[in-house]
Amino acid sequence: MAEFLWGVGSSAHQIEGHRCGRGDSVWDRFSELPQKIADGCRADIGCDHYHRFKEDILLMQDLGLNSARFSLSWPRVEPKEGESGDWAFYDSLVDEYLEAGIQPIINLFHWDFPLWAEDDGGWNDPRTPERFAAFARQAAQRLGDRVKTWLTFNEPNCFIGDGLMGTVHAPGHQWDWEKGALAIRTFFRAHGAAMQALRSQVSDVKVSIALTGSVNCPSAKADEAEALRLTFSGLRRSLWPFPIWSDPLLGGRWNLESLEAIPELEVVYTDQPPEPADFTTLNLYSGDSQLRPGHPVSAFNWPVTPEVLYWGPKFFYQRYSKPVLIGENGMAGIEWPDLEGKVEDPARVDFIRRHVGELQRAMAEGVPILGYHHWTLLDNFEWQEGFRKRFGMVYVNFETGERIPKSSFYAYQDLIRQSR
Ligand code: GCO
Repeated sequence: MAEFLWGVGSSAHQIEGHRCGRGDSVWDRFSELPQKIADGCRADIGCDHYHRFKEDILLMQDLGLNSARFSLSWPRVEPKEGESGDWAFYDSLVDEYLEAGIQPIINLFHWDFPLWAEDDGGWNDPRTPERFAAFARQAAQRLGDRVKTWLTFNEPNCFIGDGLMGTVHAPGHQWDWEKGALAIRTFFRAHGAAMQALRSQVSDVKVSIALTGSVNCPSAKADEAEALRLTFSGLRRSLWPFPIWSDPLLGGRWNLESLEAIPELEVVYTDQPPEPADFTTLNLYSGDSQLRPGHPVSAFNWPVTPEVLYWGPKFFYQRYSKPVLIGENGMAGIEWPDLEGKVEDPARVDFIRRHVGELQRAMAEGVPILGYHHWTLLDNFEWQEGFRKRFGMVYVNFETGERIPKSSFYAYQDLIRQSR
């Protein structure tokens, strides 16, 4: 078994800043609409990771990380269709990670769809899969000599469900199920084409896709068999259930049960399902567990249910027999520097210890876990919440750019040290 990956996850739009150095995405336009972002902020500068990436990678090295999952900004490397952009930034970023002994895991798409593509057909345009595959080919040719682990998308149910069919995320079209299903078909075609591009261009490549959804954890109301069944039941008229995505993306088969709840998916299922991914990547924050009165919740009011990192990997390994990578796990906190300039976040310290403990319990029972990527290193632009929801193990002063490691930073550092 390869060395366990201790990492952090991030995304380009949420941490890079330097908007003036790239093309715009649907999130730039969305952030300028009134009342769409809770604090009225935009990610134009934010963490300014674009200029501070060396300092941030030093923090990761100080943590003892050997892995980092980040996304490419498609509009940064292709500001207009066919126009080559700032690949030099990602060349330097990858080299800096490798210098620091940190394995880069590149995610191609984390919601920042280029405006040129959005305004020229978007997610219902038949040219989008090839446009995305061309981007993937470019990335593979330029970075595939040094990066061997890739993700194609982050959470398709979110950018389609909340962004295209909803109004909470960019671009906020509020499409109906018929248009939404066409976008889902475009997504599966784009994912399949990108996977082929990566597999044809990158030697020894491993490709996955980051998925999120509901993991039902056994309780007094549902024993393990029932919880497993509920986790993979597609009988809800919603894009949240895992099997709509995980059965085709990990199992190479459409989830026909979902058709009963969402007959519009018929237009998707006329295609062949994509080739299965090489491993499972799960973004898990909170499970569907039985909650007690006053159950702990994060600043997002997400219940804290560490057992989700035991049951999620276990159930996915049972269903798809693939190794599991935790792509994201973390909590929104309410913390700030105290009078001595320290940032204490005891809730996140306990959160990390409990969730990693549950993951290690699954590993001890034979579930092949590839690694754990905490979400996240730096407080950053939390989409519709702006900078109000802090997920970082490092506090960021968004006016000065100052980074202050929180107590959770040192707790994660200790966990990693103890594991070696
Ligand atoms: C998600 C996204 C991240 C979020 C994180 C905290 O899962 O929503 O992948 O970009 O910032 O999960 O909400």
